Amino acid sequence: MSSATSHLSAEARASLPQHVAVIMDGNGRWAKQRGLPRIEGHRQGAESARVIIRTAGELGIKYLTLYAFSAENWNRPKDEVDALMKYLIHYLKTETPELNKSNVRLEVIGQIYRLPENVQEHLRKSIATLSKNNGLTLVMALSYGSRIEIVDAVRRISEEVKRGKLDPADITEQVISDHLWTRNIPDPDLLIRTSGEMRVSNFLLWQISYAELVITPTLWPDF
Ligand code: IPE
Ligand code: IPE
Ligand code: MG
Repeated sequence: MSSATSHLSAEARASLPQHVAVIMDGNGRWAKQRGLPRIEGHRQGAESARVIIRTAGELGIKYLTLYAFSAENWNRPKDEVDALMKYLIHYLKTETPELNKSNVRLEVIGQIYRLPENVQEHLRKSIATLSKNNGLTLVMALSYGSRIEIVDAVRRISEEVKRGKLDPADITEQVISDHLWTRNIPDPDLLIRTSGEMRVSNFLLWQISYAELVITPTLWPDF
């Protein structure tokens, strides 16, 4: 038994969620409170991500989805977007060996093609390095938007109908789930949002139909 679960009763262990999704919000406010540039908040936020990934793995949680960059976040000032992309590369470079030691597998969801080519390259490398692992699956949501994910699914389902491969009468909830970017991932049973906003910000709208919601006022870097 790992250190994180050793103090849990058998009952508590049995009721652990299988998939936890997190809207990691509040990096900017954390930095502002300290008179620091926003990127310092993102840096500290990455530390929180490191801790939650390790803890989720130790607890035996199977999937952890982290909302790291939304499709809407492209509208932020270019300096902030550039810094976030640079930081993402740095994170992948330095963390991949650690994730490997912890038996973590990596998947990404989102409009990956919109990311700078060097970010895509590092993502491919990290995914390949971690592909044999069978502990926690870390799902990074990057340039992710739930509505565009659904649009993309509808387009691909329509193509199948057009080619005569699928009868509209056979389109079920399962068919839709199977065409989302999350097709290989079970729906989250727990959604956490830090920093207190009572909204879901275009995150996993279809997939969280039955998820329990936890919204905490704690800022992400302090979580
Ligand atoms: C979340 O923190 C991180 C990203 C969206 C990349 P924010 O940057 O949204 O922080 P606040 O909401 O301004 O505090
Ligand atoms: C949600 O946070 C997106 C991420 C955590 C990546 P935002 O700060 O971007 O969302 P809004 O603007 O509060 O809806
Ligand atoms: Mg925010």
